[in-house]
Amino acid sequence: MGDKHARLFVDGADEAIELPILSPSLGSDVIDIAQLTKQGIFTYDPGFVSTASCDSNITYIDGDNGVLLHRGYPIEQLAERSDFLELCYLLLEGALPSAAQKSEFERTIAAERNLPAGIANMVSSFSTGAHPMGIITALTGALAAEYHNGLDITVAEDRDITARRLIAKMPTLAALTYRHGQGKPPLPPREDLGYAENFLYTTFADDENYEINPVIARAMDRIFMLHADHEQNASTSTVRLAGSTGTNPYSAIAAGVAALWGPSHGGANEAVLSMLADIGSPDNIDTYVAKAKDRNDPFRIMGFGHRVYKNYDPRATVMQETCHEVLAELGVEADETLQMAQRLEKIALEDEFFIERRLYPNVDFYSGITLKAIGIPTEMFTVIFVTGRTPGWIAHWKEMVSEAYKIGRPRQLYLGETSRDYVPLEQRS
Ligand code: CMC
Repeated sequence: MGDKHARLFVDGADEAIELPILSPSLGSDVIDIAQLTKQGIFTYDPGFVSTASCDSNITYIDGDNGVLLHRGYPIEQLAERSDFLELCYLLLEGALPSAAQKSEFERTIAAERNLPAGIANMVSSFSTGAHPMGIITALTGALAAEYHNGLDITVAEDRDITARRLIAKMPTLAALTYRHGQGKPPLPPREDLGYAENFLYTTFADDENYEINPVIARAMDRIFMLHADHEQNASTSTVRLAGSTGTNPYSAIAAGVAALWGPSHGGANEAVLSMLADIGSPDNIDTYVAKAKDRNDPFRIMGFGHRVYKNYDPRATVMQETCHEVLAELGVEADETLQMAQRLEKIALEDEFFIERRLYPNVDFYSGITLKAIGIPTEMFTVIFVTGRTPGWIAHWKEMVSEAYKIGRPRQLYLGETSRDYVPLEQRS
């Protein structure tokens, strides 16, 4: 933070308004407009395209250069050398764990995997055709009911327990949701298995003899890692906004789950597969690219473009590699969907429309194909994203509530009717 200033000249005012400029450790300077309201003026920025909603130490994205750092560590190094639970610890605590801290964290998470009985029973009240995202939103909200009494978010230990509980229980909720859709009874989690292994076991196993493929487990772990955090995206901002009222943190996370569902956000991985199914054959790709370029047609290439990345999404590069590893392991390299996705990617990347707008594949372009090969049904894809993103949401919530914070309360540019008198019903035309 430096002593630079910006000056704002408003027509009709005698003097310029001086606004402090804050300098980040990385990235663009930020004009601090918090005091503007005292001058009777607000700023207007629908979609928050030019607005930093908070300060944060957790994740940094340089969208022009395709850089993603968690607590300073590049995602490529983390994906290659770390694992999901270590990344969770890093996001929550700000530093990589020592060996003792790592095993203690893993033990705590493994011990917290079971669900309260009420939650496990609740899933059976949904029809088997109910959308898994609707179910997991409800189940996450239900955790708030189970873990409310005695929870004091001003106490650090309570915040830590909440964080660990959510990370531990989310894959159990995901597996429960999947099995409900398949008409299968829930399978209790196992403490002796790693995070991704336990997820695969509770999702797919019929009994204790289920064999976990280490290549698939590693891919699953990486998928969780690549989704773990992405600074102030729509769902994380939702968690912060909900959390800023002092609400129960499980409720704030349920709000984040709901926000993630949309096809412009986490729902894009599901939308990619639906889009590829609609395209149907490589012969139709040109028609769909033309549709995406037609300003009168709402169709967009799902898994392409990003508000922040105006370069290759670094997560997409790792995801593409993981996708190839999984398909090779399962012997489905000639997968038609993958071939069509690669063809579509190549055509779009060479097209002036996409080049000019700096539209590149994002993480969701290849995650859906990978998940499909692993055996996860399309409607479960965003639930996997939920499981991966949970540590990010909770790390941001924890960061916010661990210090002084204000309730999030945006203002508006009102364009409605001016004041008018009520007209009794019999006098209206
Ligand atoms: N296909 C075709 N055109 C596109 C696409 C796309 N996927 N994305 C953006 N554009 C065009 C858009 O039509 C606009 O063109 P013009 O300048 O002629 O009006 C221009 O690019 C800028 O688009 P925008 O909507 O102003 O960009 P945005 O930053 O508001 O939207 C986005 C970002 C992710 C919502 C958008 O790129 C999109 O809808 N992508 C498809 C959905 C998707 O893959 N979402 C997952 C994001 S990554 C996962 C996550 O982190 O949530």
